[in-house]
Amino acid sequence: MPSPKRIAVIPGDGIGKEVIPQALNAIRATAAPVEFTTFDWGADRYLHDGTTVPADGFSTLARDFDAILCGAFGDPRVPTNIHAKEILLGMRFQMDLYANLRPVHLLDPSLCPLKSAQPKDVDFVVIRENTEGVYGDLGGVFKKGTADEIAIQEDVNTRKGVERIIRYAFEYCASHKKQDGSSRRRLLMCDKSNAMTHAGGLWQRTFKEVAEEFSQITTEHMHVDALCLQMVRQPSHFDVIVTNNMFGDIITDLAAALQGGLGMAASGNIHPGHTSMFEPVHGSAPPIAGKNIANPAGAILTAALMLNHLGLIPESQRIEAAVLAAIREKKLTQDVGGTLGTRESGDWISKIISSFSSS
Ligand code: NAD
Ligand code: IPM
Ligand code: MN
Repeated sequence: MPSPKRIAVIPGDGIGKEVIPQALNAIRATAAPVEFTTFDWGADRYLHDGTTVPADGFSTLARDFDAILCGAFGDPRVPTNIHAKEILLGMRFQMDLYANLRPVHLLDPSLCPLKSAQPKDVDFVVIRENTEGVYGDLGGVFKKGTADEIAIQEDVNTRKGVERIIRYAFEYCASHKKQDGSSRRRLLMCDKSNAMTHAGGLWQRTFKEVAEEFSQITTEHMHVDALCLQMVRQPSHFDVIVTNNMFGDIITDLAAALQGGLGMAASGNIHPGHTSMFEPVHGSAPPIAGKNIANPAGAILTAALMLNHLGLIPESQRIEAAVLAAIREKKLTQDVGGTLGTRESGDWISKIISSFSSS
């Protein structure tokens, strides 16, 4: 009997604390060999004792766990958002989780705001660089508060960082299939190289160089503004997209809308071979927190993505099948046309998973 996978669980703030318990129930219902350890990192802990990340926090996660499952971070009581920055961006940067994997898959036509879009039309993956760009917060403010104030926010792009995310995207494209079983074979690089020529030039050159190692993959390029237009007009155009940190953040909220909204979108923060972190794409949604109305599906699909990453493939597939059943039977929350609360929807999904697991 292999030893159980050790999962660190950080529900965080707001609706993170409501959707993560549902994701854990879904995993339990698969009977996957896992054990959970919950961490209280988030706004409550920060407001209580000033701790964002305890000493050795990240090294403990990397050393003692196979994966991390997070909810969301952000709380109106912490207007600086310092805890979210130190926990979430801290994990991405300090654990070097350089590939932010955001699959975009329409599970049912009823969820898509586009006329007559079918699941086969919305089936692509965004691979977002996760450790560089403007997110490093390099720069500064000069003459603050005066009429001459200057604020500089640097966009950091290293050859190493750009090359490894582009190579990850080519390898992902070469080794993954679409939902209909056909091979992925097109990789699109998205940038803004017509305006940001220094960073854009590095991305362009690196993309062309790495492409030479992957002759079976067709390559394409779009500027991020044109990509947004195309994503709405013809999402079937996309297969795998690789882009920088900020463009990846923005286009994956747009992409989430094609899947039914932020309540349906899953993501992984990955460094191959290292402890990786999984979280729904949505935030802590303060206005709806604590009301039992948040959609747990994004967190539950994130659990499936994590199990898949850990090699627990049948368990992961059972979770996805149960979410699909919940959509078809309208056993989800109001944001996606259902009538159930967070807990009731999560319970329904877990019950279906249990029935798959025992049959
Ligand atoms: P948000 O994702 O929290 O909410 C955006 C909109 O989507 C809101 O209308 C919200 O009600 C809705 N929504 C989000 N998740 C939902 C769900 N599961 N079910 C139903 N509706 C859902 O984004 P925001 O409002 O820009 O940010 C709120 C806070 O969350 C901020 O502090 C922000 O910094 C933080 N945030 C954190 C993360 C993260 O931890 N990964 C991601 C995004 C935003
Ligand atoms: C996300 C979020 C974060 C990001 C915020 C909370 C810093 O929007 O994970 O998409 O911009 O990466
Ligand atoms: Mn975002």
